[in-house]
Amino acid sequence: MGKKPSRAHNSRKRKNRISVIYAVILAVFAVFEIIIIKDHLNNDHESIVADNTVREYKISDGEKNFLILVNGSNPIPENYETELTELSNGQSVDSRIYPDLQKMFDDMREQGIYPVVGEGYRTAEAQQKAMDDKIEAFMHDGCSKKIAERLAAEQVAVVGTSEHQLGLAVDINADKTKSDNEEVYAWLAENAYKYGFILRYPANKVKITGYDYEPWHYRYVGKENAEIIHSEGICLEEYVENYEE
Ligand code: DAL
Ligand code: ZN
Repeated sequence: MGKKPSRAHNSRKRKNRISVIYAVILAVFAVFEIIIIKDHLNNDHESIVADNTVREYKISDGEKNFLILVNGSNPIPENYETELTELSNGQSVDSRIYPDLQKMFDDMREQGIYPVVGEGYRTAEAQQKAMDDKIEAFMHDGCSKKIAERLAAEQVAVVGTSEHQLGLAVDINADKTKSDNEEVYAWLAENAYKYGFILRYPANKVKITGYDYEPWHYRYVGKENAEIIHSEGICLEEYVENYEE
């Protein structure tokens, strides 16, 4: 017959079991924490490091001219010149993008969708006014000047850093008498790349572009560039960083 375990032995066993359960619970928490931190890091860097691949794109010479990167950290070069073509509604765009823009609008209309260029080229004065108006609108809604300026800067580029000043960007909205904005934006998101235009400020690239999602703002980059940017799901900053000279 075995010896009956003592009370001290039983209590030791119970303590050991409790320690093991604690250890398992701590391990489970640790694993969850690692998963959450990893997820957070991935989100912070978005697609730039998502799969640790630095892709290289070969760009044909004719399209390189359309890859000028203008954003909060890359102002428009001082000597930049634009030749403009005026549209029927008084807006203007860089003359080189006019044929593709016209073709895109013609095809949309043929499919029963009616777009308008709300804004194309902007002078420096017009860009400054866009910023001032946005700040004023936020202050009108009750924001302090400081907060209004901060919020406005997430939606409007500081003068000298807007693609609209290049003439290569167009804000496309619906002709409200025949279409609504949502159907125009949906069509553009699916098809604009075929005409050389990209959605410049996608919702999942805010941390890279520096601007809120703008479903109306399209930037001409040429058809080959647009095809790659669209199919890879990247933004212009990511593309320009990785293409091969
Ligand atoms: N809304 C864009 C960022 C601009 O002002 O150019
Ligand atoms: Zn715009």
